[in-house]
Amino acid sequence: MHIGGLQLFYFKNHEEQHLQFCNGINCITGPNGSGKTNILDAVYYLANTKSFFNGIDQQLIKHGQTFFSIHGFFENDTTTEILVNFGKGKKTLKKNGKVYSRLIDHIGIIQTVFITPYDISLVLEGSEERRRFLDFTISQTDRQYLEQLSLYKKLLDQRNAFLKQAEGRPVDPLLLETFDDRMAIAGQRIFEKRREFIAEFTPYFQEFYGFLSGEAEHPTLLYVSELHEKPLKDLLYLNRDKDRILQRTGSGTHKDDLEFLLGDYPLKKYGSQGQIKSYVIALKLAQYKYFLEKTGKKPILLLDDIFEKIDGSRAGKLMELVARDYFGQIIITDTHADRVKEHLEGLTVEKKYFALEKPLSTNAAPVQNSSEDPD
Ligand SMILES: Nc1ncnc2c1ncn2[C@@H]1O[C@H](COP(=O)(O)OP(=O)(O)OP(=O)(O)O)[C@@H](O)[C@H]1O
Ligand SMILES: [Mg+2]
Repeated sequence: MHIGGLQLFYFKNHEEQHLQFCNGINCITGPNGSGKTNILDAVYYLANTKSFFNGIDQQLIKHGQTFFSIHGFFENDTTTEILVNFGKGKKTLKKNGKVYSRLIDHIGIIQTVFITPYDISLVLEGSEERRRFLDFTISQTDRQYLEQLSLYKKLLDQRNAFLKQAEGRPVDPLLLETFDDRMAIAGQRIFEKRREFIAEFTPYFQEFYGFLSGEAEHPTLLYVSELHEKPLKDLLYLNRDKDRILQRTGSGTHKDDLEFLLGDYPLKKYGSQGQIKSYVIALKLAQYKYFLEKTGKKPILLLDDIFEKIDGSRAGKLMELVARDYFGQIIITDTHADRVKEHLEGLTVEKKYFALEKPLSTNAAPVQNSSEDPD
């Protein structure tokens, strides 16, 4: 799957933007704040029904406007038209003119892998970031998992509301059991799937880490979950009194984590900056390979600021993969047109360049396109 046309209206800093991408490498260049990352985010949005960076749609509307719209044409054997409109607090998503009644039904149709300088938060931030990475990756190719996640979340919210309502007083054990039974089934399935996923994903990740870092240091992903010890049904039962007093559910897959190790040591504490960078890029490249293996289709690769924030040797390694024709469509952003051209010069894939200008007023900058035919 690749994206052909993209049109934006009042999306973040873009007033009106029309872009026609090539199937190979697309480079978007322009000064800081010109809206390069926002274009990648718009592509991500069409695939994933939300922004990569900001979950509040209202904040994605261009300042002073009342709505935004993103319109994209994706091509595989056929063309799929995706249109998002947001305004007056309401979002509609259409595929080929038909409105989705549930946004969740769109997940998995278009795969994107977004490599950004913000990926470092996977290592530095709390467990929620890592669960999100796990869930995002698995859900893209497993609808049942996505449904179980959504059910689990609903049950957890209900159970917590029930505990809160009791304000620490004893609760009806039979009523609590009805929550626990259903939550235990969904949670157990999520656990099994996450465990299976880590086993499948880890070799891909190790391969890319080795390639990027050239190190012998062995990285491992450790799936941390209480469910390794006991079934969720038992955990919920054992923690009932504690949950009642704390008025929330303390055990379950919503507490899982993914520990990043390098050799025997936690990456967060002992990894160098370079090792951390290689680690997160390898996670994203493994995500790419996982999607490719599962669907047989190449995801759209979004590379944000790779030549700036990633040092030369790692960016060079990525370009080596690009040169091997491992990837399908790529959209790259960079502040320096010369630098990106230099990196891509020798590659025989199709390339297209887009130059954004910094808006001088509130009006969006025009885009000047130039393209190169394959050598
Ligand atoms: N809702 C909004 N309305 C108007 N402008 C916005 C909105 N949200 C973000 N912006 C603006 O978009 C710009 C950032 O765009 P973006 O992050 O895409 O830039 P960039 O070209 O990737 O810059 P850099 O080279 O620094 O990464 C900022 O100037 C920001 O103020
Ligand atoms: Mg940017």
